Amino acid sequence: MMKKWIVLLMVAMIGLGINSAAFAEDESFFDWLFSLEPRNEIKPMHNELYNEECSDCHFPYQAGLLPEASWRKLFEPAALEDHFGDNAELDDETRIELLTALIADSADKSHYKRSKKIIASLGENEAPLRIIDIPYIKRKHHDIPEDLIAGNEKVKSLSYCDACHQKADEGIYDDDTVVIPGHGNWTW
Ligand code: HEC
Ligand code: HEC
Repeated sequence: MMKKWIVLLMVAMIGLGINSAAFAEDESFFDWLFSLEPRNEIKPMHNELYNEECSDCHFPYQAGLLPEASWRKLFEPAALEDHFGDNAELDDETRIELLTALIADSADKSHYKRSKKIIASLGENEAPLRIIDIPYIKRKHHDIPEDLIAGNEKVKSLSYCDACHQKADEGIYDDDTVVIPGHGNWTW
């Protein structure tokens, strides 16, 4: 019943010539329709400035991996100057632009499945600076022996998601896309 209704609505709206102007700037009608369905994985980052500024030392983590409050803390000017022992400072204009983009797709605003699981696993006021400190992420990696992570020259730490997750840059973290370097496909 419901599905028929949606199809009819679609046909009617296309017929009426309703275009993307009716929806948020970067959302098409189909994106909007899709947002009614639960989405798998994490929303990929298509922000060029972000991918440029935040990929020198690690791959550019998707906004949907952390809640808004975490991104706000990470983007304090002083925090960027001492970013896990490195200097990742940005000019104010870039800083605000990137923070705004991250907040828009942060885990607490996302419809994507993994973002929802991330939020569900955090306490109400919990805003870790690290993705790897999120209970859901910790739990998912609990069984991996340390010698395959810290003891593995090609991985070094769990922070380097794309060392093992072959499609991390697309926001896909499904366990059948994991290859731990030197260990092969993930099967226990
Ligand atoms: C100069 C190098 C450098 C740049 C540039 C940089 N980072 Fe980092 N970042 C690091 C290091 C080092 C770590 C810690 C990795 C580790 O513990 O092995 C880190 C960790 C992180 C983490 C936590 C990952 C985790 O769960 O352990 C986030 C989130 C993060 N960076 C976001 C950003 C963002 C957003 C930018 C762009 C503004 C950025 N980084 C730019 C060096 C950098
Ligand atoms: C050392 C390799 C390695 C690194 C680095 C790593 N992961 Fe994983 N990850 C795995 C493996 C292996 C699994 C599957 C665990 C299982 O199913 O028992 C997994 C599972 C996951 C899952 C759940 C997938 C599912 O299908 O349930 C998510 C989400 C995830 N990782 C996200 C991340 C993120 C985000 C990072 C970086 C902050 C990261 N991982 C870093 C190896 C890694």
